[in-house]
Amino acid sequence: MTNNRVIKGRRAFLLGLGTLAGIGSVTIAGRLRNSNYLTQALDDEHRDFSITGNATLSQRAAAKGLIYGGCAGYRVLSSDSEYANLFAKECAILVPEVEFKWRNLHPKPNVFDFEKSDWLAEFAQSHGMLLRGTALVWHNALPKWFTREVNKQNAEQILIDHITKVAGRYAGRIHSWDVINEVIHLPHKRSDGLRKSPWLNLLGPDYIDIAFHAAAKADPQALLVHNENRLEDVPNVEKRRTAVLKLLERMKSKGTPIHALGLQGHLFRLGTETNFEPKKLQAFIRNVASLGLKILITEMDVTDETLPTDITVRDRVVAKAYEDYLSVVLNEPATICVITWGLSDRYTWLSKNRPRKDGTPVRPLPLDTNLRPKLAWNAVARAFDKTYKR
Ligand code: XIL
Repeated sequence: MTNNRVIKGRRAFLLGLGTLAGIGSVTIAGRLRNSNYLTQALDDEHRDFSITGNATLSQRAAAKGLIYGGCAGYRVLSSDSEYANLFAKECAILVPEVEFKWRNLHPKPNVFDFEKSDWLAEFAQSHGMLLRGTALVWHNALPKWFTREVNKQNAEQILIDHITKVAGRYAGRIHSWDVINEVIHLPHKRSDGLRKSPWLNLLGPDYIDIAFHAAAKADPQALLVHNENRLEDVPNVEKRRTAVLKLLERMKSKGTPIHALGLQGHLFRLGTETNFEPKKLQAFIRNVASLGLKILITEMDVTDETLPTDITVRDRVVAKAYEDYLSVVLNEPATICVITWGLSDRYTWLSKNRPRKDGTPVRPLPLDTNLRPKLAWNAVARAFDKTYKR
């Protein structure tokens, strides 16, 4: 009650400021960024997050011809059986959090280690879940030997060998592969927007086409994905979207076997700034779909790094971000899949990556640390319930 009264007071204060100076003005937004005032202006204590029925998220998604799932790691699924059981119920697709990355699979130049990735593939299969792989090419998570061993002469062969071995091993068992991950990086100031990653430096932009062709050859059944970050709520998002579209168009025109775009969906600002522009997001994914590509939301979570300590307010703002974002992307018929980067706040990369200054645990995912559904769970459920059947 006390909290609600405080919030109302603060909202009134901010709305007053908004009327005086224009709520979207750079000065006001700049000055108040990361403060509680703006957050609380976004908070709507009357917003309805109610749900009907007892169906799980995977069942609600499946009822609409969609797939819902999460990422999880070997350590978690093999040691926390309560979590593993719930994960298998809520999720229809599993994404190994790190186990399919270069550093984990390819510890030495000619040595592959499939122990944990095989365990996870078996976990998915034995629980009737789909399996998704990330990533065949990424500038991060490269093994230590990479810079020492790889040069312009051998890079293409090493890339093709890795993809052939890894995608080949799981051929027929993978729903989709992130063939390339996070390849757009505008600060590198190339006209095509490509990141100056080790792969680009070694092979030029063709590394992308080489990777897709190798993946298609090794696993002709998997959906081949360009997975990309920061396509949601960053300030220069339209420029990033244009660069992605150009790359996708280039690949399509060259006959590169790409089937889908993955939007990571790590929402860093949606809960804390008023810059979400649904119409522009919708137009972007429409443009992607018009190239004949599917759309996957591959790593969704909503950071609560700068939100107030009050859990009621925090959970409401996070839930709002989930539902607002998913309502837009699920309105596009080409969207086939929603994956959250984890399922419960018990295990989330944001604990380390975006810890809160007040020291309280982060709450970016659908379930709390006790595996109880939060409003974010309801928000995801509502987005599935509201969308049409594919
Ligand atoms: C993250 C994992 O969650 C962490 O455990 C790991 O330490 C680093 O990678 N974008 C991606 C994911 O494409 O692979 C990243 O996963 C999160 C950001």
